[in-house]
Amino acid sequence: MDVAKVKHDDSAHVFHSWSAQGLIDPLPIERGEGSFFWDLHGKKYLDFSSQLMNLNLGHQHPKLVAAIQDQAGRMCMIAPGFAVDVRSEAARLIAERAPGDLDMVFFTNGGAEATENATRMARLHTGRHKVLAAYRSYHGSTAGSIALTGDPRRWPSEPGVNGVVHFHGPYLYRSAFHATTESEEAARAIEHLEQTVMFEGPQTIAAIILETVVGTNGILVPPPGYLEGVRELCDRHGIVLIFDEVMSGFGRCGEWFAAQAFGVTPDLITFAKGVNSGYVPLGGVVISRRIAETFRERAYPGGLTYSGHPLACASAVASIGIFEEEGILDHVKMLASDVIGPALGELAAKHPSVGEVRGIGAFWAIELVRDRATREMFVPYNATGEAAKPMLEVVAACKANGVWPFSHFNRIHVTPPLNTSAADVADGIAAIDAALDVADQALLAF
Ligand SMILES: Cc1ncc(COP(=O)(O)O)c(C=O)c1O
Repeated sequence: MDVAKVKHDDSAHVFHSWSAQGLIDPLPIERGEGSFFWDLHGKKYLDFSSQLMNLNLGHQHPKLVAAIQDQAGRMCMIAPGFAVDVRSEAARLIAERAPGDLDMVFFTNGGAEATENATRMARLHTGRHKVLAAYRSYHGSTAGSIALTGDPRRWPSEPGVNGVVHFHGPYLYRSAFHATTESEEAARAIEHLEQTVMFEGPQTIAAIILETVVGTNGILVPPPGYLEGVRELCDRHGIVLIFDEVMSGFGRCGEWFAAQAFGVTPDLITFAKGVNSGYVPLGGVVISRRIAETFRERAYPGGLTYSGHPLACASAVASIGIFEEEGILDHVKMLASDVIGPALGELAAKHPSVGEVRGIGAFWAIELVRDRATREMFVPYNATGEAAKPMLEVVAACKANGVWPFSHFNRIHVTPPLNTSAADVADGIAAIDAALDVADQALLAF
């Protein structure tokens, strides 16, 4: 492949997401295999970000590729109004694995459309208009989903849609409630949400949406009791509870759905990403019987040309089969308890720049600080330019050591493909360990 040509055509014609087009220099890529990918200069990277936390079965899984090839030979496209084998099977397999009475699936092309449709269903089901969403959240970049998002990606799209109210979720390390224990954090976060509901008027609130485990905004695992409390609050006021599992679902937390790790069943679950490792764009909403009933005699006013696209559904069916054949959920639990958890614990003990490590399954964050006592962030919230540089240097060191991490603000995330071997995960964390020396050094200069 001609590196110069790839780069030239990219910079001349590809308009990239979230970027100032003239200030980026996308790395030209040659290929990926398993948990690794190679750039066009021949350098190999361990993919510790699973691309965008979606490549749950790694690059080019042969059975997943074969399933798409096979479906392409049988039927590439059929409109959503028909009943077709792979779509029916994908919906059934997903519904069978979903908690409680969630047993119908509306397919979308990705996560943002899943958010749009879940909130639309909640509004029509309840006849109410407001949706409560958490700060430190991401729900997509379409009009409704970016309005729900509780991070700076929302700001340039404001004013957004009406009826969105944000609240603080639990985050003990930076508690909005001055809590010092998980149980205090859970109780106070519930009390805060309860008050928000009271002041907004429960009869005006269609839904509360939250990421079961918050992803990009910090890998925030809810403390025991929190999700139960939100469930109870929703039940008390007839509010639809939506869990956004676009990032946390399909094995990322060691269960089919993250909700199952906490024993709480929402009314709607949004999914995308890991459902088929993103080999073909796919997302959706898993819908409880009760909400589906609303649309039994009344038309659901939403649809997509590619809802339940055969290539995407075939890859979801194959992916679920691979998860079972390869024991992916058990492997993820083992990685958490035997590899990632202990290794990150050692990093926290060793590096003064590490404030906290936390996570579940194959979904972990290393939060960097300038000072462990004050917990001052290693770079300021939403830092850009010079202010973000210390973090960019740590990330560059990871990459130089052969690991491609996901980083956000003052955090490095450890989110490898779910089928990464224990040895490769350990090697990747060792490379991050070395890169954290750069962060420790930076502390001396602050
Ligand atoms: C929790 C969550 N919800 C929704 C989305 C949006 O998904 P998509 O980019 O497929 O529209 C994302 C994407 O990162 C996400 O992490």
